[in-house]
Amino acid sequence: MSPSNKMELPNAVFHLLISMLFLLVHHVSSQRSTYIIHMDKTSMPKAFSSHHFWYSSLLTSSKSVSQNADKSEPKLIYTYDHAFHGFSAVLSTDEVESLKNSAGFISAYKDGVAMPDTTHSTKFLGLTSASGLWPASNYGKDVIIGIIDTGIWPESPSFKDDGMTEIPARWKGACNGGEDFNSSLCNKKIIGARYFNQGGRASNPDREFKDSARDDDGHGSHVASIAAGNIVEGVSFFGYAPGTARGVAPRARLAVYKVLFFGAAESDLLAGMDQAVADGVDIISVSISSRAENLYESPFAIASFGAREKGIMVCTSAGNRGTRGVRTIFKGVPWAMVVASGTVDRWFAGTLTLGNGKTITGWTTFPARANIRNLQLVYNQTSSACDSPDFFTDAPPDSIFICNLNTGNADLGTVMLYQPGTNVRASIVITSTTAEIFRSTSFPEPGVVITPEEGEEVIRYASTSASPTATIDFQQTILGRGGPRGVPALSDDSSRGPGVSYERILKPDIMAPGVLILAAFHPQLMATRIGRNIDLSSDYNLISGTSMACPHVSGIAALLKAAHPDWSPAAVQSAMMTTANPLDSNKQPIKDLEGIEASPLGIGSGHVDPNRALDPGLVYDASVQELVNLVCSMNFTRNQTQTIIKSSYRCLNPTADLNYPSFVALIRAEEIGRTLTRRFRRRVTNVGNGAATYKVTVEVPVNTTAVVEPQTLVFRKKNETKRYSLTIRYKADIEIQHREGAVIWIDQTGKYRVRSPIMVSAAADNFE
Ligand SMILES: *[C@@H]1O[C@H](CO)[C@@H](O)[C@H](O)[C@H]1NC(C)=O
Ligand SMILES: *[C@@H]1O[C@H](CO)[C@@H](O)[C@H](O)[C@H]1NC(C)=O
Ligand SMILES: *[C@@H]1O[C@H](CO)[C@@H](O)[C@H](O)[C@H]1NC(C)=O
Ligand SMILES: *[C@@H]1O[C@H](CO)[C@@H](O)[C@H](O)[C@H]1NC(C)=O
Ligand SMILES: *[C@@H]1O[C@H](CO)[C@@H](O)[C@H](O)[C@H]1NC(C)=O
Ligand SMILES: *[C@@H]1O[C@H](CO)[C@@H](O)[C@H](O)[C@H]1NC(C)=O
Repeated sequence: MSPSNKMELPNAVFHLLISMLFLLVHHVSSQRSTYIIHMDKTSMPKAFSSHHFWYSSLLTSSKSVSQNADKSEPKLIYTYDHAFHGFSAVLSTDEVESLKNSAGFISAYKDGVAMPDTTHSTKFLGLTSASGLWPASNYGKDVIIGIIDTGIWPESPSFKDDGMTEIPARWKGACNGGEDFNSSLCNKKIIGARYFNQGGRASNPDREFKDSARDDDGHGSHVASIAAGNIVEGVSFFGYAPGTARGVAPRARLAVYKVLFFGAAESDLLAGMDQAVADGVDIISVSISSRAENLYESPFAIASFGAREKGIMVCTSAGNRGTRGVRTIFKGVPWAMVVASGTVDRWFAGTLTLGNGKTITGWTTFPARANIRNLQLVYNQTSSACDSPDFFTDAPPDSIFICNLNTGNADLGTVMLYQPGTNVRASIVITSTTAEIFRSTSFPEPGVVITPEEGEEVIRYASTSASPTATIDFQQTILGRGGPRGVPALSDDSSRGPGVSYERILKPDIMAPGVLILAAFHPQLMATRIGRNIDLSSDYNLISGTSMACPHVSGIAALLKAAHPDWSPAAVQSAMMTTANPLDSNKQPIKDLEGIEASPLGIGSGHVDPNRALDPGLVYDASVQELVNLVCSMNFTRNQTQTIIKSSYRCLNPTADLNYPSFVALIRAEEIGRTLTRRFRRRVTNVGNGAATYKVTVEVPVNTTAVVEPQTLVFRKKNETKRYSLTIRYKADIEIQHREGAVIWIDQTGKYRVRSPIMVSAAADNFE
């Protein structure tokens, strides 16, 4: 359940396995499980003074008609009333069946397991005190970000409230004290702290849950400090990434909802989001994975809909399942902003200096200043594959050993395993398969990773010089250089679209920094390791994942909300998406860490550009009724639809053509060989100052025609709205799974470029 940045089995996976095991065991010993029940609140009989009493009475009567011989009672866990209506309870299948006959019952499904996906980035994003979004938003002053995660380590200097003003009177939340968490630990930065563990407890009765918002993992503190950490000078990760830590919105407030203990129950996630809505947060940030495939069974999707209804923007992580050519984004939620993870322009180096004076900046995160100076450099062709421990013991004393991983079966982890206790004092690791190395801080032995080209030069020197030597200087940080590719690059583990739960809205929406991000951490847990058994802890940790990308976008959303209090969540999202950059530092389309073009299925609209998002020119807005119309078009049963939209809305005008700032045209299996036409209608609102004329440029996907009508939009004043349509025609061929293009509206002064990607993609039933 901790960020999956380690090379060993990620804790998240481990915890998930453990909790699944508990769920299984529990399931065998009793027929009861936790269910989440959705109710139509308008059906509540007048006799009940509150929904809580109504739900309790339903539970009691479900028991009395139950045939279940087992003596245990149905048990109410939570009642929900803000993000959606209903409750969760431990029930037998008979009791669930009985509840289905109650007036107002809409749907019931079993509680699932959720888990977390697991600072220089503000500068990389171009945020500066001199101009742009930071000063325009007063650094996010008074915007409240709800963090749904593993809790918080409130003593971290990132959560000090220096420079923060009084808590806004509109805040309705609370700081709940608990085990190892005195409520006096909250301040003007952390204005709320609550915990939700009853669902987890019901599914794992044998485990101990701390009744507290105390972060016992580090993930929650890391994520919270990325979004809105205060300014802390002089931090680093064992000498790497030294500098000032600051959140994206350093003057925004944090409200913390701990729902992740070891593997979270989705009922707890739902309770946290429901409470955040009730407390009055402005943004909800959820760096948690959920594998629900149907929107109407996904607590995250349902609660996000409820949040959007109340004007709250929800940002979430795309997930860390990779992989090019596979649909791995489960959260295809049209009303939440789904964030992919990319690299920043920072390189952690060990400078390798050869005896002949030549220097190479290799990659390392070895967490100390190892003294590797003028040692014998050894290249032995027979043993350079480094895939046997004997090769290391056979090396001459106090040597630097060259390992060419392209010639054998070893990887960096193998080298790190074989090296300790041998004659080898440091390794020079030559490898071309490196994507994973550049997002991990696991580097327990002295060494550097270099490219095959650099390797050739080192080998040549080591094989021709009479007495080759080398020196390595650790703890170097080089800015302006990213991984081996352009910057940013899409992280290889960032999940890819189209969304599994809904594919007709392009997901992910956007990419943000998520690789080796420095932020606050649990100071008493292992941050990294030296050798096999020296665990090191740190107040600040470098962690990678879409979990880290998501709070960057939540922080930017907070800044935009502060700068434009009248913008809807859809407008804030549109501003970020239409100004995102699809190109990297080489002005080439953003690639993944393996050098393959990432496409909107990996990066959405592109890399977030906060200063441009401040003033996007046009926005694609969407009302709650339009989201309802979208849900109504999804061909769900009446009850499935009601589970999401609740009783306050009706399906009057179902349409899948949501006013969204991106386009996806799908090819279904049965359509192969045909020529398809898709028409999209869109509406843009002028949020620039005064009159403006926009002309369209269309980047047409290969072998496709794309026509925009009209081609010019004339706005006479601010806030005016204009409509246009995009019609694309394409041959549904099998060979070409994805083609991309864009619709770009450019105003006559050239100041605004409002860009929306077009993706022609295979549909789920036709995905390779
Ligand atoms: C759908 O909801 C109605 C009440 O709104 C309920 O009577 C019915 O049993 C539900 N149907 C299913 C299949 O759950
Ligand atoms: C919580 O902190 C306050 C103020 O520091 C202190 O007076 C109180 O005793 C503490 N409560 C507990 C339970 O430790
Ligand atoms: C090269 O390595 C092999 C395997 O460890 C060893 O047997 C051999 O003696 C080494 N050669 C030299 C010149 O050191
Ligand atoms: C819903 O059903 C209609 C009619 O069968 C069909 O045209 C449409 O594509 C379906 N929508 C989805 C989201 O499956
Ligand atoms: C475009 O169409 C031509 C002719 O059908 C085909 O050979 C080519 O592979 C297509 N290219 C792409 C990128 O779809
Ligand atoms: C534009 O709309 C916003 C929100 O509705 C409003 O606050 C603002 O005053 C409007 N501006 C103009 C120039 O009409």
